[in-house]
This record gives sequence, structure tokens and C-alpha cells, in this order.
Amino acid sequence: MRAATRHLLSIADLGAAGIEELLRLSDSFVEVSLRAIPKVPALRGKTVATLFAEDSTRTRLSFETAARRLSADVMTFHAASASTRKGESLRDTAETLAAMGVDAFVVRHSCAGVPVQVARWVDACVVNAGDGAHEHPTQALLDCVTLRQVLAERDGRAVEDCGVEAFEGLRVAIVGDVRHSRVARSEVLALSALGAVVTLVAPGSLLPPSLDGWPVEVSHDLDEVLGSTDVCYLLRLQVERGTAARVPTAHEYSTFYGLNARRARSMPEGAVVMHPGPVVRGLEISSEVADMPRALIRRQVSNGVALRMAVLFWLLGPDRIGLEGPDMDRIGAGHPGSTGDALVEVGGA
Ligand code: MLT
Repeated sequence: MRAATRHLLSIADLGAAGIEELLRLSDSFVEVSLRAIPKVPALRGKTVATLFAEDSTRTRLSFETAARRLSADVMTFHAASASTRKGESLRDTAETLAAMGVDAFVVRHSCAGVPVQVARWVDACVVNAGDGAHEHPTQALLDCVTLRQVLAERDGRAVEDCGVEAFEGLRVAIVGDVRHSRVARSEVLALSALGAVVTLVAPGSLLPPSLDGWPVEVSHDLDEVLGSTDVCYLLRLQVERGTAARVPTAHEYSTFYGLNARRARSMPEGAVVMHPGPVVRGLEISSEVADMPRALIRRQVSNGVALRMAVLFWLLGPDRIGLEGPDMDRIGAGHPGSTGDALVEVGGA
């Protein structure tokens, strides 16, 4: 009998054990992504619907690519040309798609809490792909995948041998528009759960009205923080959420909080720069820094597909994996009751 429907709505629901489980599961999918034909039959017969009611390019394409690489069928809901524009409620839209036989919904919305609501309405797995300024769990997870790779490389270890204890004491500065950033909220939850020390660096106007309960330090001085930072994580100014009224001018913001080449060079050797994208060159990051080897921006995007494959497989895969820990040997070697190796290449000779 199938276990209760699983969702990925918030990093808070995972805890350190759940994060580690997804990181370890993603190792297999990073390997799949490197194959000549990066496609496996793991989710053949499943349908994944992307229900995006807010602009997105990379996140939607990343989820759709992940679903296709797992051989799932993909349904795309475009809010701009869809029935919600004709007056249909979001609930009716979700229930209509569910009636077509959707196994997992990937939901993005400008309002916090919508993915939780969708999970109440439909009998399918739901992934939060960004809800207002609340959370963006898969962004934080793919960033942890990327950092774990960097930590393993730094220590000369295989990534599989790198447990999440490697994050203990890692010094991460999250810089910029924390107030409106769902990415920042998920990053803080994930990184602090793994033992990293997070410092928010922003002017007061770009911090949330209250930081009570946030496991973070706060600074208003980027130059002061950078010399002792292992990871400088830059946020985009969320102009669509009203940020422009909170900074005097783009130039002034960039002068005090933009990561330029001089600042990047003041970071310790081996320190890295991350950004969730889309990147606005010349504002939160200079073009020179965005192209430096220490900037992991492209690597984050590549890992995003592998991590999202892991998430979809975790939700929908054969012999669904429990939070108590994945059995990697079985994932690689096929599952009882499945037609074969879940990670065998599709379309290969
Ligand atoms: C998001 O959806 O929040 C993005 O990944 C980050 C951004 O838009 O700045």
C-alpha cells in the first residue's frame, strides 16, 4: 500500500537528516546528468505538472528538464494564457489538472502559502517552487549540493564521503534584499540546520521588520564581513516586490553592497561566490566577479537539475525512499517490483 502523500513545502519540514538524505540522493542524479544520454526510466508513467503563476525561466525549465530526464510526462500551466485569466479560481485550476491524473505539482505563486493550500486541495505531491517572500526550498537544497561538492574538493575527498558535518562552522554571508527574498529564508533554514554560521549583510531597510528567532548574525558592513567569509551569497534586489522604494539609488546600493573585484579579492583563498539568479550584472555583482572561477553561478544551475531530479524521485519514485535514509545501493541497482534499474539509461544502445 502506498504511504501518505509526501510534499516538499519548506526546508523546516526536512531538518538536517532530510536535507542530508536529499543531498546523498542527488549524487546519483549528478552522475546521470553527466552521461551522454542523461535520461533514466525512473518515473515512467508519472505526470508532473508545473503550475507557475509568477514569472520564472530557470526554475520552471529546471523542474521540467528534471522530470523529462526521469521519463515522467510533463504538463505546463502558463498563468498568462490560462483559465485563471478567464476568472477560474486557482483551486478549480489545480483540481482540474489533478483530474487529468497529475502525480506531482510544482507550484510557484507570488503569495506565500499557496503551495500549502494546493497540497490540501489535490491528492498529489506538491513541491514549493517559490511562494512570495516565504520559501524556495529547492534553491537552498541545490546550493547545499554545490557547497558539499566544493567542501569535498577542498578536502580532497569524494563527494559521497562528505557528510553534512562538513558544513559545521562554514561562514556564509547572505547579502542584499533579505526582506523580500524567499531564497534567503530557505538558505538560512538549511544552512543553519547543517551547522553553518550565517550573517545577513544588508541595509536596515532591506532586512525583515523582525529577526526574532532567526539563527543569524547581522551586519551592515560588507567590507568588514568579507575577510572572514567562506561563502558570499548575493541576492537580487526584488524590484517586483517593491525594493526600489527601500534603497536611495541603484548606484548607492551597488557602492555599499555590490560585490566588485576589489571586494572579491579581499575574501579568503578558497572562498566562493554564489547567486540564485537571475543575475543583474553591475548591481549586486560586477560582471568581472560573475565570471571569476570562484563564482559558482553556472554550477548552481547545473546542480539544480540533478537536485530536482532527486526531489521528484524522492516524492514519486518506485519503492519511495523513507526519511530514515536512502539505500543508495538499491537505488542504483533497481527496485523490487520495478521493471528494472531505476537509473539505467534510456535510449542508450
Ligand atoms: C526566486 O525565484 O526567488 C529566484 O530564484 C531568485 C530571484 O528571483 O532573485
